[in-house]
Amino acid sequence: MVLALVGVLWLCGFVAGGLDSWDDPSRLRCGYDYMQYSLPSVLDDAAFVLSVIDHNGKPHYLHNSSACGTWVGQDSDGSIMVTASFDGCFVKEQEGEHIMTISLEEVLHDGKPQYHKKDLKCPLLPAMDAPSIDECAAIPRADRMPCANTSVSRELCEGVGCCYTQNDPGNPCYYGNKLTAQCTDDNNMVVVVSKDLTLPSLILDSVSLIGVDSTSCPSLSISKTNSFVGFRFPLACNVVNQALDGMIYESTLVATKVIQTWQGSSITRDSTVRITVRCTYGKTDVVPLEIEVLTLPPPSPVSTQGPLFLEMRIATDGAYSSYFAEEDYPIVRVLREPVFVEVRILNRNDPNLVLVLDNCWATNSANPTDDPQWPILFNGCPFPGDNYLTERLAVGAPSENLAFPSHYQRFMVSTFTFVDPNTQVALGGLVFFHCSASVCVPSATDSCIVNCPQRRRNVL
Ligand SMILES: *[C@@H]1O[C@H](CO)[C@@H](O)[C@H](O)[C@H]1NC(C)=O
Ligand SMILES: *[C@@H]1O[C@H](CO)[C@@H](O)[C@H](O)[C@H]1NC(C)=O
Repeated sequence: MVLALVGVLWLCGFVAGGLDSWDDPSRLRCGYDYMQYSLPSVLDDAAFVLSVIDHNGKPHYLHNSSACGTWVGQDSDGSIMVTASFDGCFVKEQEGEHIMTISLEEVLHDGKPQYHKKDLKCPLLPAMDAPSIDECAAIPRADRMPCANTSVSRELCEGVGCCYTQNDPGNPCYYGNKLTAQCTDDNNMVVVVSKDLTLPSLILDSVSLIGVDSTSCPSLSISKTNSFVGFRFPLACNVVNQALDGMIYESTLVATKVIQTWQGSSITRDSTVRITVRCTYGKTDVVPLEIEVLTLPPPSPVSTQGPLFLEMRIATDGAYSSYFAEEDYPIVRVLREPVFVEVRILNRNDPNLVLVLDNCWATNSANPTDDPQWPILFNGCPFPGDNYLTERLAVGAPSENLAFPSHYQRFMVSTFTFVDPNTQVALGGLVFFHCSASVCVPSATDSCIVNCPQRRRNVL
């Protein structure tokens, strides 16, 4: 301890004032990879020893050591500043925080020592997902937008969601994700968007921030390459909301769409983009506690009325090579004999359309709502309460040469007849098939594919 005292005597006389504000939160600054604490002033005629407590509770004289990631310097106002990197010797991770304990032993003029001990705590940031190696390599060198200084480490670069390469000393760290949002420790928000964020790809010139432009936010800087557009602007340009224990800064990015209108109908071929980025900062931290990116689900379809024709037919065989004609009905079948049914969309040549069968059922009259009824497909799947399960059949073998296989649905029913529930006598007459169907366009939230529980005889 005596040695240590000698080591820091040079600090005597610089500082003045009392030791009242150790806990003032503004003394601690949390960076991405370091913490910095500015010591409250010490009485100017006192000598003191500043130590750091290691993981075993042992004090060490706190001095400049690049091996241990600690620095002791002076702030512009004369106060003493302690800096420690998170990967140094004395910072531990515990319960979501980086923690370092320092201690100050102050020797007052009457010779009595006074001790102060303080845990310095910074939040552990959730690391962002760095893009995959393949995604990073796929970006042409000329299109790469720098994400950090050339001296940045791989760990730090990937930790903020960027690509790192050793092969390009001029630009080792560059944006690679379709969307990168950063809330920096110098109070800026950075949002970088790739043109591949959407399909069809984004027209980067159409991307802008709501309410943030060069007039309202003179420090806004926009950078562009062929593949990326990046916005960097002070947090102060954002919408700010007071949170329970900090601040939430929010910014929204949109892409304008080109809409064409003809006789009251409007179309666009541009993707819809609306991204909200939120940075949540704690009261005392200069790094974000949370970065949230909210994207819109695909827009719900705008619909107008129009005719859609569906047709139900029965094939003469399981290969669906030919169909019964109008004059062939009613078709006579032996019980249990297979009936090959097909439902298709007529007169449409939009390859995106998918025919979805919801329910199919049988009645013994032409009226689909009459009783008795027997379910054949229930919610698109073979009715499980049948002992001869209906089979859904695959459509679109190459030999069939169908232009739009997704416009068809097929299933096989074993022939049955209705019986009187009381007398168990077969009811005479005909059996009619009915289906309720819908036409679906696949989207990010709906594949239009009905997945049925796996059953012994199911084909699809
Ligand atoms: C320790 O490092 C800090 C920051 O790099 C520097 O300002 C200070 O002069 C150094 N102190 C000594 C004693 O070398
Ligand atoms: C790059 O380095 C300089 C000086 O070392 C620093 O002031 C600046 O904040 C760094 N920029 C980034 C993006 O890390």
